[in-house]
Amino acid sequence: MSMDTISADTLRIGFIGAGRLGQAMAWTLAQHGCTIHAAASRSARSAQALAAPLPACKVLSPQQVANECDLVFVTTPDASIKATVDQIQWRAGMGVAHCSGATEVSALSTAADQGALTGGFHPMQTFSDPQVAVRTLPGCVVTIEAQGRLETVLRTLAGQLGCTVNALPPGMRGRYHAAGAYGSQFANVLLAEAARIWQSWGASEEDALRALLPLLKGTISSIESIGLAKGMPGPVSRGDTGTVARHVQALSSVDADVAALYRELCRRSVPLAQSAERIDAKTADDILRTLD
Ligand SMILES: NC(=O)c1ccc[n+]([C@@H]2O[C@H](COP(=O)([O-])OP(=O)(O)OC[C@H]3O[C@@H](n4cnc5c(N)ncnc54)[C@H](OP(=O)(O)O)[C@@H]3O)[C@@H](O)[C@H]2O)c1
Repeated sequence: MSMDTISADTLRIGFIGAGRLGQAMAWTLAQHGCTIHAAASRSARSAQALAAPLPACKVLSPQQVANECDLVFVTTPDASIKATVDQIQWRAGMGVAHCSGATEVSALSTAADQGALTGGFHPMQTFSDPQVAVRTLPGCVVTIEAQGRLETVLRTLAGQLGCTVNALPPGMRGRYHAAGAYGSQFANVLLAEAARIWQSWGASEEDALRALLPLLKGTISSIESIGLAKGMPGPVSRGDTGTVARHVQALSSVDADVAALYRELCRRSVPLAQSAERIDAKTADDILRTLD
């Protein structure tokens, strides 16, 4: 069957690549009424793990998954997507999508050349444990880049998962995915930096996180309710130049590197505080001079 003649709820969906995202997507789609028909992976063990809770799901070879399914998600690591797709004979009219944020949809060009409809379906969420991801995938934003009937089908699947759809123009995936790091990995980096400062007086990382995680959650709540600029706490947005100066001095005695990052982040805080009209131009200049 082709995507033109089938609706999202009768679609036979297949997965090639049964890792964290493949398992999370397959299980969540199945919980929301979709038919996960088949799975393949590099190892039979991973494919069997994906299929185990899904009675209708067969473990097949990648080519058999393509032969038997209407829509195939290629959920291998980014670096293997193109090579995986290039080795398969695809049918005209079927759908093939990858779930990578950084990889252009053109990585699926071999399938497109054979008449398949190709696209990207990238959930803006982290999937470390597929059991947890079944709870966190619904409700997140999914970026869909596809044309025609496949776009409609992918949007329907996102809707079934309770996800919000984000559209992305072709060629933007590199910067789009890089931006995602600010809402994920850099949160870890910033908290690790703060924990390093706590460790300078003998406290543990656990002590630091016990104090900082509720603070981070409070900041996220502020951003949700009043926005990035107005919801920014701290001495820069209070126009407290003296406290900024004391911070820089205190951190210089920990490590020059720690103070340098603090300075740079405070510099980036100044225009945010100004845009929220929390500080005027003179205070902004005073803070920037203190940081220099
Ligand atoms: N994890 C996340 O947080 C996340 C979030 C959004 C998007 N994504 C995207 O989702 C995709 C998968 O990421 P992941 O985190 O799930 O990776 P992963 O946990 O490493 O899983 C990848 C799976 O693909 C299998 N595989 C590797 N090479 C293969 C090949 N040539 N043919 C068939 N299967 C192959 C692996 O093999 P085995 O069979 O040996 O296990 C593994 O099960 C990537 O495009 C990634 O960018 C991930």
